[in-house]
Formats: sequence, structure tokens, C-alpha cells
Amino acid sequence: MDRLLDSLFPAPEDIPAQWRLGEPLEQRDYLVAGELRRWDGPLATVRSPVWLQDGNSERQVILGSAPLLDADTALTALDAAVQAYDKGRGAWPTMRVAERIQHVETFLARMREQRTAVVKLLMWEIGKNLKDSEKEFDRTCDYIVDTINALKDLDRRSSRFELEQGTLGQIRRAPLGVALCMGPYNYPLNETFTTLIPALIMGNTVVFKPAKFGVLLIRPLLEAFRDSFPAGVINVIYGRGRETVSALMASGKVDVFAFIGTHKAAADLKKLHPRPHRLRAALGLDAKNPGIVLPQVDLDNAVEEAVTGALSFNGQRCTALKILFVHEDVVAPFLDKFQRKLAALKPGMPWEPGVALTPLPEPGKVDYLDGLVADATGKGAQVLNEGGGLSRGSFFYPALLYPVTPAMRVYHEEQFGPLVPVVPYRDLHTVIDYVLDSDYGQQLSLFGNDPETIGALVDTFANQVGRININAQCQRGPDTYPFNGRKNSAEGTLSVHDALRVFSIRTLVATKFQAANKELISEIIRNRQSSFLTTDYIF
Ligand code: G3H
Repeated sequence: MDRLLDSLFPAPEDIPAQWRLGEPLEQRDYLVAGELRRWDGPLATVRSPVWLQDGNSERQVILGSAPLLDADTALTALDAAVQAYDKGRGAWPTMRVAERIQHVETFLARMREQRTAVVKLLMWEIGKNLKDSEKEFDRTCDYIVDTINALKDLDRRSSRFELEQGTLGQIRRAPLGVALCMGPYNYPLNETFTTLIPALIMGNTVVFKPAKFGVLLIRPLLEAFRDSFPAGVINVIYGRGRETVSALMASGKVDVFAFIGTHKAAADLKKLHPRPHRLRAALGLDAKNPGIVLPQVDLDNAVEEAVTGALSFNGQRCTALKILFVHEDVVAPFLDKFQRKLAALKPGMPWEPGVALTPLPEPGKVDYLDGLVADATGKGAQVLNEGGGLSRGSFFYPALLYPVTPAMRVYHEEQFGPLVPVVPYRDLHTVIDYVLDSDYGQQLSLFGNDPETIGALVDTFANQVGRININAQCQRGPDTYPFNGRKNSAEGTLSVHDALRVFSIRTLVATKFQAANKELISEIIRNRQSSFLTTDYIF
């Protein structure tokens, strides 16, 4: 393992030509009111999780720098969004749905042109392997297409009138105002766009701040944003959240807060809003999804799913399996099979074919994981797999920890990294209590094939988490399914069609079903005198 780690980071000349970097990218542009403006203030250095051989040592790659906007500059972006919304009277919030869709389609076409640039930066900025980086880009484009289709569907259903108890009505969804969208570093493109695009397409105006890592990869999209939407509809800012986002929230001008991150940060930011009752929030937060392996089980499948569930993208997924409860009767073969699968995962650089384990972008993360391992081993756990927990620079080789107990930090903390804690159990009630008492409630996985036990557990857990996966790892997709969580794990539900609802409110136009009113409404529709009151049918 030591030899493997010695040769993990490449020399610059070992990197395939197509993935080599040019000069560091000094980004000073940000997007406000339809203009790319230049920031002449301080910049944040953007570092890669990738280190390179440099003579006898290794050095971290500097990718470039990004603007550290101050609060006043961030507020200019918010003001641009407020102005473009214009209290709901702006061109964008009043535009016909079909036209808004055209703007999003224009953006999508321009975005697709940037696939290679964005994928390359995904690998260099967050260390996501090539296959998953491509998947993230393509999945995001698919999400946009699905969103357009879902909105067309919604609009078709809203284009008819209803008659209830003598009242004629038309119900449509209208925008909420100014949305602030912030995504996470593990899916800096996909998760951000799953709020940003629905917010825009429903007629809101947006301030978007990229995640803490995965910042430069938004740069290739700035012109596409600028050219595809009316001025001020989408504004992109950079900087420290404490400086910029706090000021935006404290202004009281944000109507919708879409945020993926920790519950603590979300709570702190929400508290800054002076009129919390006027703030709608869509939050994706912490999770500690358990995988529960029952005594009657297809072990090969359970191990297969548990390995990818716990370790894909090095465990840096909110949906990752972050603790495994394995019944004592099967724990020995489970651990044995798990180690063998783990040993087959290839460590390396993100662009290497077949690579599964890559360096971690968060500074201090390796030390944090070391601390969790030391705490667990100090309290009686062992690292079972060869080389488990060894690290080099930003790379941490996964550690399979066993037996884990409630006394250990890793039993409770969301490691968000390549640590796999395994807790043996005999009495299923200890596992049920873990879920009931947990502060998190996103998802869980059940592995087993006894219908009676699985049926009973589904009933027990249905009121605890947002999704129960049977003989499968936890995950967000397919994106048409609801994605949410209870307790500290989320606020609101996202899916392709739920997101359209999150960023809008139903508005009803109603009148008494009388001859004069019928004539009035018919005239408005016939003469196309309203964008809202219309029976236009989008194909
Ligand atoms: O980080 C959390 C993501 O929503 C997980 O999505 O299950 O598709 O990896 P995923």
C-alpha cells in the first residue's frame, strides 16, 4: 500500500494531454444585471485535490483564483434580481410560459457546448472521476429537459377552466420572487441546477452563488447565462458565504432560499432574514443513512450495494451509506466479502480509466478522518482492511472499521468521506432505536429477503425517513422520484415536478359563472389580452 501511495500522484508529464491544465485561471468576472463585471478586489486561491510529483516531493496544484466579493457587491447582484422581478411586474415573471421555456432551451444548447470544459474542471476541482463527472454533466442536461417537459405538462393542465359551485376559475402557478440558490461541493453542477433551473423557469429571478469547491467550473457557463436570459434574471456571485450570503439574507429581499449544505449553516442563514414568514426554503442537509443487513440475505448483493453506497465518490454523497448494521449471524462473511470488493477499487487520479478512489477536496479532511479512526480504534474498533486509513496528501484510503459502538464518534457523526463503520447487532431493536433517535432522516437501506421482516421494517421506518431502499443502496435518482428528508436532513421535497411547485404558488382567477362574466373572460382569451388568463396549449 505504501508503494501504491508513493506512485499515486503523477508527474505533470504523466497526465494525458487532453486533461492537462494550462496556466492557472484567474477569474475576476461575475454576472450582474446582464453584464460580466470585473472584480478588482481580493481573490481566493482555488486549489485542486490533485497533487503532483515535484522532484522528490509532491505539491498541491493551484488551479487559479476566484473573486472574493464583498457584501456591497453581492448586494448589487441582489438588487439586479429585485429590479428584474420588479415586484412581479418584470418582463420575466410576466412572460408567457412558452417563451420562458425558449430561453431555458437556448441556455441548454449553449451549456452543452461547454461539456468538455466543465467535465475537466469537475475532475480537477473536486476530484470526481471522469465517468462520474460526465454523468453529472449529462444528468444535469437531462434534468433541464425533464423540467421543461414537466412544466409543459403542468401548463397544459392549467390551461383549462374549472367550474365549482357556480364559480368559474383558472388556476396557474405564479413565481414567488427572488431566489437565492446555493449548491454543495460534491455535486457543484447538478445539485445547484436542480434548484436554479426550476426557480428560473417558473419566473423567479435568481442570485446564484457556486459551492465552496467547484467554483471555476461555473465560469464557462457565465456567457451562456448572460446571453440566454433578460438582464438581471440570473446573477452569479462569488465569495465567502459569511460576507456575501449573510448580507443578502439580512436584507430581507430574498423570497426563496434554496440551499444544500449543513443544517447549522441553513439555520444560521435563515435566522438572519428579518421576515422569516416571507421566506420559502428548499433545503438539502446532513444525513447519516444506515444500511441494515438482516440475517436472511443475499450477501453478495448486499456487499455490492454497500460498497458502492458507502464509497462511490469516496463517500462524499449526502445519500451515501454512512453506517452499516450487520446481523451477527452474517457479519463474518459480510466483512470478508466487503474487504475483497474494497481491495478491488482502484485508487488514482480522476481521469484514469476505471478509477474509483480519488483525492479529497476539503482541506483538513484527512486529519478529520484520521481523528475519527483514532477515536474508534482507541475505543476498541479495528481497521480490518489492509492499508485502511493510510493517507498521502489529500488522499485517504478507505477504512473498514469494526466493531463500531455508540461510544465512538463515527457512530454519530456524518463522516462524508471514505470511512465505513460496521456495527454488529443481534436484536433488531437496537437498530430501530438508532433510526428513531437519530437527528437525521433522509434514507436507509434494508438488505434481506424475508418478506415478514422486511414488511414490518418498512412500516416501522416509513415515518422516519424519506426513502426506504430494499436490497439497494441509498440514492437520489431517478430524478422524477421525490427527494427529501425528515429532522435535520431536509426541508421540502425536490423532484423534477416537485421543484416546479417549490418555486411557485398557485394563483386562482375566479368569477361567478354568469353570462356577462363568461363573455368578459371569453373576450380576454380571444383577444389574447392576458398571459395568465389563456387557454394556449403548449405542444
Ligand atoms: O449529495 C447528495 C446527492 O443528492 C446524492 O445524489 O444519490 O444521485 O448521488 P445521488
